[in-house]
Amino acid sequence: MENERPIGLFDSGVGGLSVLKEVVKLLPRENIIYYGDSGNAPYGDREKEDIRRLCFGIMDFLVEQKCKVIVIACNTAVAAAYDEICEKYGFPTVDVVSSGARAAVKTSRNKKIGVLSTPFTAKSNIYAQKIESISPGASVYQEGCPEFVPMIERGWEMFSDRREIVSGHVRHLPEQTDVLVLGCTHYPIIRDDIEAVFDGFIVDPAVETAAALRKILREKQLLREGGKRGSVSYYVSGDIEIFREIANKFLGYSISGIQRKKVN
Ligand code: DGL
Repeated sequence: MENERPIGLFDSGVGGLSVLKEVVKLLPRENIIYYGDSGNAPYGDREKEDIRRLCFGIMDFLVEQKCKVIVIACNTAVAAAYDEICEKYGFPTVDVVSSGARAAVKTSRNKKIGVLSTPFTAKSNIYAQKIESISPGASVYQEGCPEFVPMIERGWEMFSDRREIVSGHVRHLPEQTDVLVLGCTHYPIIRDDIEAVFDGFIVDPAVETAAALRKILREKQLLREGGKRGSVSYYVSGDIEIFREIANKFLGYSISGIQRKKVN
């Protein structure tokens, strides 16, 4: 049965867990295959062609696993490869950037929106384009934060200067910015530190992404029905123990069944 097939969800590493958390909350009956390409993270300072190649390898794997829909839970991957993925696979996909842009516009009162992201996402201008297409005249400031992903992938708490690094970036936001988008799926993991130095609303695109996923599954009659809870299978290309530790802490429960899998 089509609706029994799993949902595929991928990121360059642990960041996709922020999306997974919301998806499991909203769609607890679904089976999910999570792919974290931690062996190749960070994506955010790679070239476009390189990011595309990595995404295609992961897409091939998830399509092989007979996923019914794929969530691109990595803003950088969306910025570098979304159109090419849609064209190459012709597959139902949900992306975090469109969801983040919609959520930002809904939340902002004065339409002065800031976005923290990887350098690649910031340079691509994708958030400004998406937000302005929904809300013409909105002003969008995008700040690339090259330090965050490598620090989060290694274990954020290890770094004693983390708060200063965060505030060094938040300080660049124009005055009156009322909404700050976490434009990298890794950043909800360090939300407390961002919240401590930003005085407005914080938007985590994961919530809206989970809602967009439910909508697409409903429209395509692909929702998994019945009372039984689904399960999550984890595949990572980097260190399993580091992934497990970060995941257990962020998700708030112990995960099992993590497999090492290189697709690139
Ligand atoms: N979680 C990815 C994103 O949303 C981080 C990319 C990276 O590995 O730099 O952009």
